Parts: sequence; C-alpha cells; structure tokens
Amino acid sequence: MIRKLALSALAALTLGGAPALAAGNGGHVHDYAFSFEGPFGTYDRAQLQRGLQVYTEVCSACHGLQLVAFRSLTAETGPGLDADTMRAFAAQWEVRDPETGEYRAAGGPDHFPGPQLETAPDLSLMAKARAGFHGPYGLGLNQLIRGMGGAEYIASFLTGFTGEEIEQGGTIFYENSAFGGNVSMNPVLFEGLVEYSDGTPATEEQMAQDVAAFLMWAAEPKLTERKMWGFVGVIFLTMLASLLYLTNKRLWAPVKAEAKKG
Ligand code: HEC
Repeated sequence: MIRKLALSALAALTLGGAPALAAGNGGHVHDYAFSFEGPFGTYDRAQLQRGLQVYTEVCSACHGLQLVAFRSLTAETGPGLDADTMRAFAAQWEVRDPETGEYRAAGGPDHFPGPQLETAPDLSLMAKARAGFHGPYGLGLNQLIRGMGGAEYIASFLTGFTGEEIEQGGTIFYENSAFGGNVSMNPVLFEGLVEYSDGTPATEEQMAQDVAAFLMWAAEPKLTERKMWGFVGVIFLTMLASLLYLTNKRLWAPVKAEAKKG
C-alpha cells in the first residue's frame, strides 16, 4: 500500500514537473518591482489601464482573454473604468451571442473573445499558470522570498527575445531567454507601438510591464481584497490571543495565589 502511494506520489511529481520544465527550464526571469507585491501591495490603476490598452491593441490580435468579463473592468481595485467608458470599450469588440449564435457588439456582461490564432494560448490565467517554478530547482522559492511571479515571467518573456531565429518544419521559432528556448511567438513590442493617453513614454520595457500587470489582475482580480482580509484576520487573531491570555491569567490567579501560600 505504502509503496503504491509512494509510486503515485512520484508519478504526480514527475508529471507535474513536465510543464514547469517546458515553461521555465533555465529561462532567465527578471525581478521587477510591481506595485502589487508584498503584504500591502495594490494594483496601480493607471498601469492596469495602460496594460489593457496594450492587450487590446497588440496581444488580442492573436490571444484571447475569455475568462474576463468586460464589466469587471470597472472594479475599484482593478482598472476602475467608469460604467460608460466600459460599455463604450466593450462595444468595440465582436462576440458571438450565446442565444442567437450571431456576431454582435459586446456589452458589459460579455467576456473578451477567445484566441484569434489557434496556436496562441488564452491569457486569462497565464499569470497564474507561469507563477512559480523559478528559483533553485524550479521550487518556486523566488516567488515566496522575492515576490517573483507570473507578471515577472510575462514581462521578461516579452522583452526576452534574443533576435535569433530558427526554422523547423516550415515554422519559424524565436529564441527567448525567459522561455529558456525557442518559441513560435515572434517579438511583438517595439518602442512607440502604442500611444498612452496619460503621456507615459511607450518604451518596450514600459509596455511589457504594463501588460504583465494587467494580466496579473486578469488572473487574480481579488488580490487586494484578499490581502486586506488577511490583514484583518491577523489583527483579529492577535486581539483574540491577547484576550485569551489575560482571561487565562485571571482564571488561574486564585489557584496560583493558593499555591504560593501553601
Ligand atoms: C502574432 C500573434 C501573437 C501576438 C500579437 C502575441 N502573441 Fe503571445 N503567443 C503567440 C503564440 C503563437 C504563442 C505560443 C508560442 C509557443 O508555445 O510556441 C504565444 C505565447 C505567449 C505566451 C506564453 C509563453 C509560454 O510561457 O508558454 C505569453 C505569456 C504571451 N504569448 C503573451 C503575449 C502578450 C502579453 C502579447 C501582447 C503584448 C502577445 N503575446 C502577443 C502569438 C502571439
């Protein structure tokens, strides 16, 4: 029985390890300082809006974001679009109506479309899927200790093209230092590709970090709330522990006094 358990645990470990190797085998991930790191980190609203713009103008040509509803863009702790801006934004997208099966302009409750290019993965959960596995032996320690996660990977991936290309079976692959090998996505970001309305210079690094932050929000929209409730929980438990300690002291005080006398 134990041997069987050990064997299946081993199998789970090796199977679980496979995608990790594919994603980050020896790849170099840069440690960016994102606003949402640390116990009190929150998303930077202006950055999420810039990231949304990069996603819309660049990435959505191939990738999808089909787990994200347009109306969630109004989230206070997220991109924080006002309701009218969000509806106008959604209306630029075409989605298939689930009832009629026809294409129409999207509204608030609709989701972003799926991938436009079959081989391009949906990006809704990419920041979570590529969160760990960095650090010694792919243990994910860098995430725990240095707050390095999926956003760091995505930003490093977008700026990690080395310029080397190889052709294999009619497909061109591009060498990428964060991917740790060759990938079929070509470099897409170059300086001045988008024009930010808040006047931020659109350097390659800036766009990479902005869209990475946006994709982190897409994968984990409740991060700020989660951290806040965690903090409330810690305060509550600290207060409860002190009260219990005082109660304990008080309850046993007569017994202790007796013991001293005797
Ligand atoms: C011209 C089409 C195209 C565009 C534009 C594009 N991608 Fe990709 N992307 C792909 C394809 C194809 C893959 C799959 C590559 C592979 O697995 O070999 C991919 C893979 C990825 C991956 C996964 C890498 C991994 O670790 O497996 C990420 C992250 C990504 N793209 C992010 C982006 C972001 C962010 C943008 C916008 C700035 C973008 N892509 C723009 C085609 C595109």
